[in-house]
Amino acid sequence: MTTNPLILLLISSLLTSTSTESTKSKSTSIVFTTLGRSRYNFDIFSTPLPLTSPPSSHQLTDGISVNFNGFFLPDSSLLFVSERNSTSNIYVLPSPSSSSSSRRSTLQLLLPSPLLASHLSFRDRPIISGDHLLYVSTHQPSSIPRQSWSAVYSTHLPSSSTLRLTPPGVADFSPSVSPSGLWTAVTSSGSRPWSGEVQDLLTDIYLFKTLDGSSRTFLLHHAAWPSWSDDSTLFFHRRSSDGWWSIYRATLIVPSSSPPSVSSVRRVTPPGFHAFTPAASPASPQTLAVATRRSSSQYRHIELIDLSEDGVAVAYHEVTRLISPYAHHFNPFISPDGSRIGYHRCRGGGDNGESSRILENIKSPNPDDFSLFRIDGSFPSFSPSGDRIAYVGLPGLFVMNSDGSGAPIKVFSGNAFATAWDWKRPGVIYTSYGPEFATESTRVDIISLTLDKDDPSSPPEIKKLTKGGENNAFPSPSPDGKWVVFRSGRDTHKNLYIMDAEQGESAELRRLTEGAWTDTMCNWSPDGEWIAFASDRQNPGSGSFAIYMIHPNGTGLRKVVESGDGGRTNHPWFSPDSKRLVFTSDYAGVSAEPVGNPHHYQPYGDIFTVGIDGSDIRRLTHNSYEDGTPTWAPIFLEPADVAENLGDGERCGFDDCHWLSVDNHQVLSSTTTC
Ligand SMILES: *[C@@H]1O[C@H](CO)[C@@H](O)[C@H](O)[C@H]1NC(C)=O
Ligand SMILES: *[C@@H]1O[C@H](CO)[C@@H](O)[C@H](O)[C@H]1NC(C)=O
Repeated sequence: MTTNPLILLLISSLLTSTSTESTKSKSTSIVFTTLGRSRYNFDIFSTPLPLTSPPSSHQLTDGISVNFNGFFLPDSSLLFVSERNSTSNIYVLPSPSSSSSSRRSTLQLLLPSPLLASHLSFRDRPIISGDHLLYVSTHQPSSIPRQSWSAVYSTHLPSSSTLRLTPPGVADFSPSVSPSGLWTAVTSSGSRPWSGEVQDLLTDIYLFKTLDGSSRTFLLHHAAWPSWSDDSTLFFHRRSSDGWWSIYRATLIVPSSSPPSVSSVRRVTPPGFHAFTPAASPASPQTLAVATRRSSSQYRHIELIDLSEDGVAVAYHEVTRLISPYAHHFNPFISPDGSRIGYHRCRGGGDNGESSRILENIKSPNPDDFSLFRIDGSFPSFSPSGDRIAYVGLPGLFVMNSDGSGAPIKVFSGNAFATAWDWKRPGVIYTSYGPEFATESTRVDIISLTLDKDDPSSPPEIKKLTKGGENNAFPSPSPDGKWVVFRSGRDTHKNLYIMDAEQGESAELRRLTEGAWTDTMCNWSPDGEWIAFASDRQNPGSGSFAIYMIHPNGTGLRKVVESGDGGRTNHPWFSPDSKRLVFTSDYAGVSAEPVGNPHHYQPYGDIFTVGIDGSDIRRLTHNSYEDGTPTWAPIFLEPADVAENLGDGERCGFDDCHWLSVDNHQVLSSTTTC
C-alpha cells in the first residue's frame, strides 16, 4: 500500500485507550445488536452528468466496510464517512488521476485533529470549505437527557485547530455551506430534548457564519436537509401537511450587513410521491438531485429534477432505477462542476474479499476493561464459561462458538426471543417462544432447551416451563441454578414472577412485582443479590421506561437510571462482577436525520453502562442506528471481527424506512406512531 497524504494526516495517539478509571470489569466483552446493520455494505457510486441513455455508474469507494454520505471536492476527490477500522471516521479518496486500482490504495483517513482522534464519536456529513473541514460529531455530551449530542464542528486543516460551530446545549444535523462559503445552513432541533418522534423530527433550519458559528439566525420553520444552489436559494425537505415528504425552495434576501432572511418559500415536488434529501448544484442551478419513493418501485431511488426559473419541477429523470433497480439509494450529492452525481447503496457481494461479520468489533471506549462487538442477530447471551453465544436470528435460536470456530447452529426454529444460559446445568438455554411486542393476552411461553453435550447439532430436549401462554418472556436464571425470573401478563399487567428453573411454574411460582404497569426485560445479577428490569411504573402505558433493581426476595426496590422525561431505557444486563449494568437507551437522542438512513424502528438506541448505584453513565456506541439487546460476557474476546458467509440477497435485504408509505391512504393516516 502506498501512502500519499492528500491534505493532511494527523495520526497521533490513534484511538488509544482513553480509560482513566478501572470499572473492575476487566477482561470482559459487551455484545449488542444493531437492527439490519450487519447486512449493510454501502459503497459510494457516481453517475456522469448529463445523463446518458441508459445512465452508467461506477463504484468509487473500495468495497470495504460501510461507506456513505459523500462530498465531491473541486479537484474530484471524494470525502466520505466510513465505519472501517471499527469506528466512524472521515476519509478522503484522491481524485482519479490514475487507474482505479491505484486510486483505491491511496484512501486516506482525514482525522479532524489529534484531540478528536482520541474521542469516539459518530462523524457525519463532511464538507470542505476553503481550508476548513466541517462535519457533525457526537463527542461532546449533551447535558440534557434525550438531547442529541450531534453538533457541527470546523477543523482548520493546516493548523488542526477545531471549533464547535453549534452553540452549547443545541443539536444540529446536516450542515450545508453556501457557494460563497460565508453561511452554513443546518437542520436544528434547538435546545429542546428530542420528543421521541422518529419519522419527522420537527426541526428548523438555522444559519450561521461558516468561519466561527457567529450570527446564528433562525431561517425556516419545520424544515431539514438544506442544500444551496446559490447564496440566495436554499432547497430543503419537509414532511408536508398532506403526509408526503416533499422538496421546497426558499428564496433568501441577502443583505450585506446582516444575516439572510426568507423572502418566499415554494413547494417544488407535488403530493403523490415522496421526495427528500435534496442536493442542489451551484454549477447547474436548474437541476436538483433527490431521493424518491414512488408507488412504481419498492426501492428508494435517485432522480434528477429539471427546474423552471421560478423553481417549479418541470421534468424528472430517473437515475438509479435504470442502473440497479432492486437496491435502495441514499443521499445524493453533485460535484462542484456539475459533471457527476454521487450517492451510496448496498454493493451486494463482498468485493475485495471482505466477508460479512457475525461479530463486528467496535472500538471500545475502555479497551482495558472490555471489548465491544455488534452481533448479526439479537438477544445474545454467553454460556457461563463464555465459550458459546446463544442469539436470536430471523427467526430461530442459534448457538455459535464465541471464538468464531465452526458455523452457527440453529437449535430452535420457532419465533424465539431473549436468551439466557443456566449457570449450573451445562448447555441449558432459556428463551421465550411466541410473537414479540405483543399484548398481555398473546400466547408466549418460556421454554428451556438442553443442548446435546456430544452433538450440538442434534435437536435439543425442549421443556415448556410456563403453561398458560400469558405473555411469559425474558427468562433470567439465578446463579444457584434454582430459579428463573421472568415477566408475565397473567394478571392483566406484565409484572415479574419467579419460578422453579427445572420444572417450571407447576413446581413453584411466586410473584415478585405487582402493579398496574409493565415490568419487563429482567436480568438476575451473577452474585444473586439483584434483579434489574425495565419498567414504565412512573407513567404506565406511556412507552417511557426506566431501569430498576429489586432483591429477589422483593425488598430494596430502587430506580437505577432513566433517560429523561418520556425516555426509553431498556434491556439491562449485569456485568460479570455485578457492579455495573449495560443497557440501551435514547438518552442521547438521534444522531442524524432518520430519513437519510435505512429503516430502523427506533433510530435512536445507543449502548450505555452505569454503576448499579446509578452513577457514572458511559456511552459506548455512537451511530445513527438502533443499538439494542446488549449482553455482558464473562470473558474477554480479542477485539477482532469474526467472519460469516452470507449470500448477496441476505447482505442487502434490509428495508427502507417503513413509514415512507407510498399508499396515499396510509400516508394520510400515519402520524406519529412508529
Ligand atoms: C486502521 O487502523 C490501523 C491501526 O489502528 C492503521 O494502521 C490503519 O492505517 C487504519 N486503516 C485505515 C484505512 O485508516
Ligand atoms: C432480602 O434480600 C436482601 C439481599 O440478599 C437481604 O439483604 C435482605 O436482608 C433480605 N430481606 C429479607 C426480609 O429477607
